Amino acid sequence: MSSSRTLEEVGADAATCTRCRLSAGRTQVVFGVGSPTADLMFVGEGPGYHEDKQGIPFVGAAGQLLTTLLGEIGIARDEVYICNVVKCRPPGNRDPLPDEIDACRPYLLAQVSLIDPRIVVTLGNFATRVILDRPVGISRVRGQRFTWEGRMVIPTFHPAAILHGGGQASSQMAAVREDFATLRAALAELPPTPAPVEQQLGLF
Ligand code: URA
Repeated sequence: MSSSRTLEEVGADAATCTRCRLSAGRTQVVFGVGSPTADLMFVGEGPGYHEDKQGIPFVGAAGQLLTTLLGEIGIARDEVYICNVVKCRPPGNRDPLPDEIDACRPYLLAQVSLIDPRIVVTLGNFATRVILDRPVGISRVRGQRFTWEGRMVIPTFHPAAILHGGGQASSQMAAVREDFATLRAALAELPPTPAPVEQQLGLF
């Protein structure tokens, strides 16, 4: 998928996509939400029931937890961009299958290249494996800073894992809070984005 296209054009393509079987069961495609010029992008796994109904990622319980975690580090949800590895809800919230991930990958890569975030936070195993392109386990890599295509990638647990984590929920919550503190520090350390050339040359 060419990145000479706009985010709106890629989103319009995705809205009618039938590249994989997930298209048959969806209410609508859940492409992404947030600032198209965000420095910070979150990638989840795939839409759930509420996301499929509303067409917006992370609006259910996991999304509310994500919004809370962002608030705790002083970031509003509309300052970031949020999307998923697969844009259509897997039936019964099952894991996305490899061919479904492959079919949707060009949309995700186009989103990354068009939004051009400086930091990508991958939520859970699926997003982390797709972005880092390695079969890593989230428990091992969470909280580390990786470099991928000139951007920083920080993997952390998926918020749904905390909500359904049973006995591990409180340790996973502590780990995610630690990872969000790493994220806040990483954002604070980013060099400022250079001003547009016209501004640097005093043309406006
Ligand atoms: N879980 C995800 O991975 N994505 C959503 O949009 C909602 C829940």
